[in-house]
Formats: sequence, structure tokens, C-alpha cells
Amino acid sequence: MKIIIINGPNLNLLGKREPEVYGHKTFGDYFSELQFRFKDVELEYFQSNIEGELITKLQEVGFEYDGIVLNAAAYTHTSVGLGDAVKAINTPVVEVHISNTFGREDYRHVSYISPGAKGVILGFGLQSYDLAIRSFL
Ligand code: DQA
Repeated sequence: MKIIIINGPNLNLLGKREPEVYGHKTFGDYFSELQFRFKDVELEYFQSNIEGELITKLQEVGFEYDGIVLNAAAYTHTSVGLGDAVKAINTPVVEVHISNTFGREDYRHVSYISPGAKGVILGFGLQSYDLAIRSFL
């Protein structure tokens, strides 16, 4: 089984960025834990701060992989293009968020990703990614 985690803007700063919201761990460290935990899964990781690169990656993997775990970060709330890409591909996408976006500012209550997603997992900290991977198994 081939699953890719795709992270959007500013998630490369996990560990340093607003640790009271996003925690103290870097995504690199967390990804190593996931690889250890899911040894039977071919896990890949991609991060970009650039909207178009995220769309291109979704198109690249979206007819080939078994699952996509997507945290589009701030683009979740703004990007028609990413929402369209999620709808355009065949591979199921699980949308994840580290924080509970519904407990935060109103502009975070909108998602352009959710309408095309298989499901949404949010608010469990980094564990949201673990739960998303499990949903594909
Ligand atoms: C986030 C929530 C978004 O609102 C925010 O812009 C992010 C991270 C999360 O994982 O909680 O960058 O997607």
C-alpha cells in the first residue's frame, strides 16, 4: 500500500511555529515515528509552501497511489484550485488538520478541500495523521 502525506504552507516550521497550537515536534521526527509504526505501508512525504506545487503533486500521485493524507494548511480555506485537484483525481484524499479549526477563527471554518475528500480528521494534534493513515488500512 502506497500512501503519501502532503503538507501545505508553514508546516515545514512545525516544532518552532506556534508550539501552543501545533506542538513541539518537527514533522521530520513525527514522520520517522509513522514509518516505524506502519512498516507495511510505503509512506512518502511531500511539503510545499507553493499552491501550484501542491496541485502538481496531487496530479502526479492521484492516479497511482492508494491514499493521500492532505493537510493543505492555510490553502484549505482559500484554494479553489486545490479543491478542484482533489475532485479531479482518483486516489482518495483524507483531509487532516492538527488543530481543531472549528474552535478557531471563523475564516478557518471554511474548507475548499472537504467537499472532495473521503473524510476529514482534525483536532487530534499530530495524531490526526496517524488516524488518517489507519483509515486507509
Ligand atoms: C492547519 C489549520 C489551518 O487553519 C492553518 O492555516 C494551518 C494548519 C492545522 O493543521 O491545524 O497552517 O491546517
